[in-house]
Amino acid sequence: MGRSTVAIHGTSEPRRDGDPVVAPIMQSSTFVNAVGSDREVRYTRYGNNPNQVSLGRKYALLEGAEDAVFVSSGMGATALAHLAVLRPGDHLLASAWIYGGTLKLFDEEFGRFGITVTYVDPTAPRIWRKSIKKNTRAIFIESPVNPTIRVLDLMPIAGIAKEFGLALVVDSTFASPINFRPLEQGADLVITSATKYLNGHTDVIAGAVAGTRSVIEEVIRLMRVWGQAIDPHAAWLIDRGMKTLAIRMERHNTNGLAVATFLSGHRGVADVAYPGLESHPDHEIAARTLDGFGGMIGLTLKGGATAVDRFLRRLRLFVHAPSLAGVESLVSDPRITSHKGWSPGQLVEAGIAEGFVRLSCGIEDPEDLIADLEQALGR
Ligand SMILES: Cc1ncc(COP(=O)(O)O)c(C=O)c1O
Repeated sequence: MGRSTVAIHGTSEPRRDGDPVVAPIMQSSTFVNAVGSDREVRYTRYGNNPNQVSLGRKYALLEGAEDAVFVSSGMGATALAHLAVLRPGDHLLASAWIYGGTLKLFDEEFGRFGITVTYVDPTAPRIWRKSIKKNTRAIFIESPVNPTIRVLDLMPIAGIAKEFGLALVVDSTFASPINFRPLEQGADLVITSATKYLNGHTDVIAGAVAGTRSVIEEVIRLMRVWGQAIDPHAAWLIDRGMKTLAIRMERHNTNGLAVATFLSGHRGVADVAYPGLESHPDHEIAARTLDGFGGMIGLTLKGGATAVDRFLRRLRLFVHAPSLAGVESLVSDPRITSHKGWSPGQLVEAGIAEGFVRLSCGIEDPEDLIADLEQALGR
């Protein structure tokens, strides 16, 4: 089955006369357990509520994974995926270009489990290889990268992971499984913030992990003990959102390219980071490994902080808010969200120049998005 069909139907069983076409919400924390029965005990915190189970199966199919599980946030998915593959005393090699929340998790929390982390320039496979220690167990990368929209080539990193027997964990939130499927390119586990493209309607916080059955079983075990299960209503909303994932991604892809092309020709713009533009440093990698370039754009304005402030105040359709990848266009400034408190030097090192903002192009009419940007940029 094609991805659009899977996103709508999942693994749905043949229907009988009188069945609802849309699966109902099982908004119940627990389920009757017949006295003396040896059937699996159903309890929503265990992640075996029917809404949770069918959503996981559908996402696994989209990623080409054996199994998948949804949890209560993207950060929950990142935390549990790593705890599933790492043990106390282990070492994690991580790309230096990752979401600020993930960086915080590694820097502030992993120490308490005795897990050490080394950050590596993700474009230099030689450095990955050199940084591997005796106790290295896993590699983590994020692609496309938040907020700079760099795109990494998975193949060389996957080769190193295989050679040294390391688990390769990839956060591909910015692509969705319609544009990019890391497992097809050698990853072992894929993480997504379902808050973003999967749900797509900016009304749910959730995350998912997909991979081999044995690792997902461990993620599920951790989810139960750490109390990370997704609520059935949230699972139902994501299931509904995912029915339009493929068609939404088509529009995000065309809007992203239209907006990026417009911006790259504007006098007030210093730089446009969009992988669909030939000028993007990773355009060749993106064209070879992605099925679409998405709706995320890194925009650097001429005129630094003053220009950003004026631009943000003038925008009408692009709403100034954290988060991304919903049907409505958003704009965010990483200095007050994911990269709050970073020094100017750290920001530049992370590829965030003065005047940088991140655009998330929704699925509105592209000419309206362009008109809004044009009036906000001014002459
Ligand atoms: C790349 C990436 N991964 C993970 C997350 C965390 O997701 P959530 O906010 O659903 O916990 C985010 C949030 O912005 C993100 O951008």
